[in-house]
Amino acid sequence: AAFDVVVVGSCMTDLVSQTPRLPKAGETIHGHKFFIGFGGKGANQCIQAARLGVKTAMICKVGKDFFGDNYIQNFKDNDVNTDFVWQTSDAATGAASITVNDAGENAIVIVAGANMLLGEEELQKALPAIRKAKVLVCQLEISSRTSCQALQMAHDNKVKTIFNPAPAVQDLDHSFYRVSDVFCCNESEAELLTGCTVNNVEDAHHAAEELLRRGCAAVIITLGPQGCVVLKAQDKTSTHVPSTAVKAVDTTGAGDSFIGALAFCMAHHPAMPLEEMARRANQVAALSVQTVGTQTSFPFKRDLPAEMF
Ligand code: RIB
Ligand code: NA
Repeated sequence: AAFDVVVVGSCMTDLVSQTPRLPKAGETIHGHKFFIGFGGKGANQCIQAARLGVKTAMICKVGKDFFGDNYIQNFKDNDVNTDFVWQTSDAATGAASITVNDAGENAIVIVAGANMLLGEEELQKALPAIRKAKVLVCQLEISSRTSCQALQMAHDNKVKTIFNPAPAVQDLDHSFYRVSDVFCCNESEAELLTGCTVNNVEDAHHAAEELLRRGCAAVIITLGPQGCVVLKAQDKTSTHVPSTAVKAVDTTGAGDSFIGALAFCMAHHPAMPLEEMARRANQVAALSVQTVGTQTSFPFKRDLPAEMF
């Protein structure tokens, strides 16, 4: 079988507390609500693409535990192929402790667990699917070596790649840039990677130029309510793609919703200008922030205007 979008990445069980504000070090505060959800940047991005109507497969590792079993069922419920989802008894399914304040902002601690045990052996088994994909997507919640190898495999086979360097690291291996068709990060990740502050659209233009110089074919820096900035290697200047203003309830996973939608567009409308893809991805992500939760808030095809498809 051939898949449109293949994601090599993470699965996490999200343990979410809603609180009036984020706690300080050493402090205990009362929250108003707790819930468990399906998360992990890789799986989130894959599920958003699937909900928009492309054929997807996830390449990942979960624990041989209750959370892992549940996660596999979640992929099936969302029409994501699970032929390359492995279970290990050597580590627990990844978990994320998430605090969301009343402004919809969050703070997250992840324990990647089984995600870190996805390696070259599994990538080799999944190579036929990687080779035939239209788009391959990677992040940094699995071993960065595995992430880079997956991007390289896709690149060698002329499969379009999206790399989301999240969570960001300061000393990202430069080979990541050369295998990224679209290098897509948020403002704080751009800041960490370039060492320049990114507080507004102007700063984002500069950071995008710096990231592009490192060898990727295009850069997108997402700016929350301000939309994003797009810069392609063949262009001289970057374009600001604004987003429409909405009331944010929970921004957790909004970046993943954006990337899932971008992957959908790259697979479904390969000839579309990247700026237009980004405009559509903004629209999808803007819907996701208006509802509580991560995957629970990701829209389906039926929730979006028909012109998008
Ligand atoms: O990007 C949001 C995701 O980051 C959450 O679902 C959580 O699992 C963390 O990985
Ligand atoms: Na949300």
